[in-house]
Amino acid sequence: MASLAVVGLGYVGLIHAVGFTLIGHRVVGYDINRAVVESLRRGRPHIYEPGLEEALRKALESGRLKFTDSLEDAVAESEAAFIAVGTPSAPDGSADLSQVEAAARAVGRAMRGKKWYLVVVKSTVPPGTTEGLVAGAVAEESDAELGVGFSVASNPEFLREGTALEDFFKPDRVVIGAGDEKAASFLLEVYRPIEAPKIVMKPREAELVKYVSNVFLALKISFANEVGLLAKKLSVDTYRVFEAVGLDRRIGPHYFGAGLGFGGSCFPKDLRAYIKLGERLGVDLHIAKASYVVNEYMLQYAVELLEKHLGDLRGRRIGVLGLAFKPNTDDVRESRGVELAKMLVARGAVVYVHDPVAVEKAKAVLGNAVVYVEDPQFLVDNTEAVVIATAWPQYEELNYTNTIVIGGRRVKKAREAKIYEGIAWA
Ligand SMILES: NC(=O)c1ccc[n+]([C@@H]2O[C@H](COP(=O)([O-])OP(=O)(O)OC[C@H]3O[C@@H](n4cnc5c(N)ncnc54)[C@H](O)[C@@H]3O)[C@@H](O)[C@H]2O)c1
Repeated sequence: MASLAVVGLGYVGLIHAVGFTLIGHRVVGYDINRAVVESLRRGRPHIYEPGLEEALRKALESGRLKFTDSLEDAVAESEAAFIAVGTPSAPDGSADLSQVEAAARAVGRAMRGKKWYLVVVKSTVPPGTTEGLVAGAVAEESDAELGVGFSVASNPEFLREGTALEDFFKPDRVVIGAGDEKAASFLLEVYRPIEAPKIVMKPREAELVKYVSNVFLALKISFANEVGLLAKKLSVDTYRVFEAVGLDRRIGPHYFGAGLGFGGSCFPKDLRAYIKLGERLGVDLHIAKASYVVNEYMLQYAVELLEKHLGDLRGRRIGVLGLAFKPNTDDVRESRGVELAKMLVARGAVVYVHDPVAVEKAKAVLGNAVVYVEDPQFLVDNTEAVVIATAWPQYEELNYTNTIVIGGRRVKKAREAKIYEGIAWA
């Protein structure tokens, strides 16, 4: 059993604080946001994730998990800290590493006097960050020497919101970018209860694995969308095509979901950061750029399809079904539903929105610019056209017969609409 600190208790940090506890470790979770710490102490997750509340309760009951608003205490009681703070886009698209640097500095200060400590970067960061920015900040603040008083590691995360706990316990692989032998053996021991291939590599290799994985998944989606635009013109159902294409074992069936495109807290920002990394290193990353362009176009195309049926959108009542970036999460960061709502508002439409769990988070972005509707059937019945932006299962239960539907996601029932247009399928 190891004693671990988790720094940053968002989607990734909280899942790890709970997950590490449930596989037998002792964990102290710290977040700079006191309200988050308070709520977690009471056993209430501040994010929605299936099964999380129950898992948090179990973890707290084990007596091995606690939450603190003192990083000093968290570091004092642990042998390693997992930094899981945000790495959003900076205005130029590169990864904003200010939260990572602040966390590394704070951990460095709190580490003073320790014989050895391990600083693990869980956040998605550009290759070179763990051994550069992070190790430098920790060394400066702690007065300890890298490789002697402390070690660093990159341990990128691949969980998916919506199935985050399952992904924690049953990942496809665990990637350990270890700065030295001690870091590698410590992390291998931490992950011993998890049955998955464990790959030990250099920190910068591990950091690149994370970007390459996300960029590749994003480009599979964009590829499906581009094929979808063509298939629609050919009156072909793109999903039937990819069902057959995906049976080729060299290709695989996953992430060919044509539709409004990808959003969320990872793909768009990681794609931008990856493209920026290429620019910084003098490599033009054509494929990544194209994937981004296709993704943005899908939103534009949804607006074009609405205009095709309604004409000028000024004053028209349009519904957006779904604000979460995908089902089973309340995360609305860069969600296509929210982005589309913004575009429609900018064109003067009266926009009605619905989401079963993400409305509170969406309000922080959309404010009073849209009308929030609790009953999705009311939204369908009281608008002139509807765009399905998130494939929540309950949208399969609605009656669409009297409206126009732009299928931004695959909800089969919506085909019964007066006019139905799949955005990237016939
Ligand atoms: N969300 C995902 O599905 C996912 C999956 C894989 C990787 N990642 C990566 O993991 C990282 C975290 O993502 P997230 O979605 O969990 O972010 P998040 O925004 O949900 O959580 C970040 C948390 O860190 C806290 N924080 C910020 N600065 C801090 C500091 N100095 N000290 C302590 N806490 C601090 C914030 O208050 C917040 O609670 C990002 O780099 C992201 O790219 C995310």
